[in-house]
Amino acid sequence: MAFESTRLQMHVVPAAEWGAAAARILEAELLLRPAALIGLPTGNTPQPFYAELRRLHGEGKLAAGQFRVLMVDDYLGAGQLATNSYHWLSREVLRPLGIGDGRVLRMPTDPAQMPVACAEFERQLQQWGGCDLMFLGLGPNGHVAFNEPGSGASSRTRVVRLNEATARANAAYWRGAFMPHEAVTLGLGTILESRAICLLVRGAAKSEVLRAALLEPETPDLPASVLRRARRLIVLADTAAAPDADIFPHA
Ligand code: PGA
Repeated sequence: MAFESTRLQMHVVPAAEWGAAAARILEAELLLRPAALIGLPTGNTPQPFYAELRRLHGEGKLAAGQFRVLMVDDYLGAGQLATNSYHWLSREVLRPLGIGDGRVLRMPTDPAQMPVACAEFERQLQQWGGCDLMFLGLGPNGHVAFNEPGSGASSRTRVVRLNEATARANAAYWRGAFMPHEAVTLGLGTILESRAICLLVRGAAKSEVLRAALLEPETPDLPASVLRRARRLIVLADTAAAPDADIFPHA
């Protein structure tokens, strides 16, 4: 067995229920800690989750008044550009849920401030009490946040260069606009300090990388495999991403 199963919860749900299931994981956390610090990723994967949060908030059913948000990555130099992950997160989640800037621990993106700003970000993260629940997407190459293959399990927040596969996959989000090939990411060591991690996975294209991340021996070649060291790991997959759910250990 690849895990101490008490630390892993695996949820596999039909695609149509996936967004609501993700929202329930957040709601359960907010019930315990209304001012929790929540890590939120960008990308295609979390979109049904964020749509559900907007819906719940619109109906006055989400306790969104106090929780704080931690960014998990951003593009280097993105502050000056119109399209970037902070703006995306702001448009999709922060503004719709009424989460003001004072409740967001934003990833530094100014190249002139590196690497000092990364150390300062880590210090602030400690000052804010650390992350309570970090949602993460799973890259097609096994990256988490922008920790590409080869990232060390004890790595900290830093500037990284996106590898070719990631740059190609993400270019679609920029619709032809110039995309920086450098990013700032929480380190794997930083991520592992979260009190809980929820790995979000959708679609058949991620099924093999999810299987390998959870069941193959841990390796820096597959950064997501280190998530098995998390204090508590929740995996939320749709049935396409985990078609053979029985192979995974359940809590
Ligand atoms: P995706 O990306 O959600 O857009 O598939 C996940 C990731 O690259 O981390």
